[in-house]
Amino acid sequence: MKSITILGIFVADLAFFSKKIPARGETILGEDFVVGPGGKGSNQAVAAAKAGGQVNFITKIGNDQYGDMAKKIYSEVNIETKNVFISDKFSTGVAAILINKETGDNAISVVPGAAGQLTIEDINKAEYEIKNSEIFLTQLEAPINTVIHALKIAKSNNVKTIFNPAPAAKLDKDVFPLIDFFTPNESEASFYVDGEINNEEDAKKYAKDILQLGVKNVLITLGEKGVYFENSKENYFVPALDLKDKVVDTSGAGDAFNGAFAAAMCENMNVKEAIEFANKFAGLSTTKIGTANSMPLRREIENLT
Ligand code: RIB
Repeated sequence: MKSITILGIFVADLAFFSKKIPARGETILGEDFVVGPGGKGSNQAVAAAKAGGQVNFITKIGNDQYGDMAKKIYSEVNIETKNVFISDKFSTGVAAILINKETGDNAISVVPGAAGQLTIEDINKAEYEIKNSEIFLTQLEAPINTVIHALKIAKSNNVKTIFNPAPAAKLDKDVFPLIDFFTPNESEASFYVDGEINNEEDAKKYAKDILQLGVKNVLITLGEKGVYFENSKENYFVPALDLKDKVVDTSGAGDAFNGAFAAAMCENMNVKEAIEFANKFAGLSTTKIGTANSMPLRREIENLT
């Protein structure tokens, strides 16, 4: 089976649910608190594995309780952990996630902890897995030098690369040509162009500017609206899944999309089919609480009419 290698961070998500996300300087009374596995790269790895992919994950965790939480979920969903490095010096990171209980919207502050200490040497230890994968997927939460080093290994070995620029950060111009599929959300896409992207029309207007940076394909995820795709030959919009259940938590939905898209691209799906599959996967994830813990099972996607 073709495999997917994902580089990114694991952190414990500390999620606070309240009637609204507090404004600057404001204190509010929260209603629920949940601790669960998180970190964009780790969520994407869990999503890809639950979507049917064979996943190798590269990260660093602490020798602590939250590190054990990572090991537990990787064992449950069958993620290869050969390149999950354990630091005796640094603790596993954490994220504070504030969630609006009425709308499911969120605001996040993430401290990568041990995963912020990933090094080029760690990436070199994972070189065999990167080189021999069908897909390499990463984001911008791990140290940027390790992300770029791994992308270079992938690209120079003809591995398809998916780059989720989250959180958005300035990239050198020689990085963009290493990217086959660039997957920003609205705000991340806006960061790379001279304008605001909020909907399909804006995405269509600015996608060419992103392609001109040197990426081969751009997929702009527009939350509950859907996904806009463009490359040098075609462009189209794939609307989001019409959800039957209430949205309770949108955190991790972008990760659900990226992980499921990577898994679908390892199968015999074309890009449009892979986007449709990932859209459904991400949509369903918003109807459950948590990030990694909200990823649906493959059969739930197949059971959708
Ligand atoms: O995309 C959601 C993730 O971003 C959360 O799990 C949090 O840990 C942050 O990394």
